[in-house]
Amino acid sequence: MKDFNMNIQRISDLPSLPQRTTDSHKGTFGKVLIIAGSPGMTGAACLSGMAALRGGSGLVFIATPVSVQSIVASVNPCYLTIPLKMDSEDQLTPESRSNLLDQLSGFDAVAIGPGCGQRPWVRDLTLHLYEKLTEPLIVDADGLNSLAAADSPLPDPAGPRILTPHPGEFSRLTNVSIKEITANRETHALEFARQRKVILLLKGAGTIITDGSRIAVNPTGNAGMATGGTGDVLTGLTTSLAGQGLPPFDAAQLGAYLHGLAGDLAADDLTQPAMIAADLIDYLPDAWHEIL
Ligand code: APR
Ligand code: MG
Repeated sequence: MKDFNMNIQRISDLPSLPQRTTDSHKGTFGKVLIIAGSPGMTGAACLSGMAALRGGSGLVFIATPVSVQSIVASVNPCYLTIPLKMDSEDQLTPESRSNLLDQLSGFDAVAIGPGCGQRPWVRDLTLHLYEKLTEPLIVDADGLNSLAAADSPLPDPAGPRILTPHPGEFSRLTNVSIKEITANRETHALEFARQRKVILLLKGAGTIITDGSRIAVNPTGNAGMATGGTGDVLTGLTTSLAGQGLPPFDAAQLGAYLHGLAGDLAADDLTQPAMIAADLIDYLPDAWHEIL
């Protein structure tokens, strides 16, 4: 692997990439599950799923409400879909819930949140997975809103957790104002990650990745990425890397780096105003080229 030429502060070790030996098979590169999407927000699920595929996962599953499953499935033939069925209270039916939970041990990493909406089933499933899942769990968007809305303090997680808030989501998680967070990003990020025993990826220009002791500032990315859906791409990519066996801190760091690099390459060709979130997926191969 070439040197990343990362302008990362206070971190000495760089992420190691999964090796692609000639006898590799799709099991070698991890099976990931992304719980995402809802009526009107199917794009979030598709963007996350496509980013996980381009991130290198061997198998990508998207669990999404049955009402939108066919829409999500029709966007790309390379991921698989799992239908989620809700009852009249908008909770998962017992059968759907147990069907999903029974399958969880087969996944190397799980993500929840993109485009799910703030719904009872999302809240229940996010809190359950946050506490119980032993594999890495990436929590984004409405998964984060579910954690922020929890009635009781968050329990210690049973496995690695990567939380990927933008400043607004981080403000809801911490009850600290966006203004204060923006003024002291590193302090708040470090403190939160240390207290909650999670990896925090605080998004924005100079995305911060911290596990409460180590801290990295991502050097890639640009203002052209301030367009709907780019966060969903990051979720899929980071989940993919965690599912390939990268240590969770490295997965978050490399995910942010490649995501921003894809954004920089897209901006070079397309301009910042014209680029859209789907372009990040199209430019991920070029971003990989830069570091392989
Ligand atoms: N410089 C560098 N990177 C940037 C910049 C910038 N100026 N602006 C945005 N980005 C990057 C962020 O670092 C992050 O990786 O773009 C991504 C934006 O992610 P989100 O803020 O999560 O935005 P989005 O993808 O639109 O989220 C979709 O999820 O979080 C919810 O409320 C959000 O409903 C929305 C949905
Ligand atoms: Mg987002």
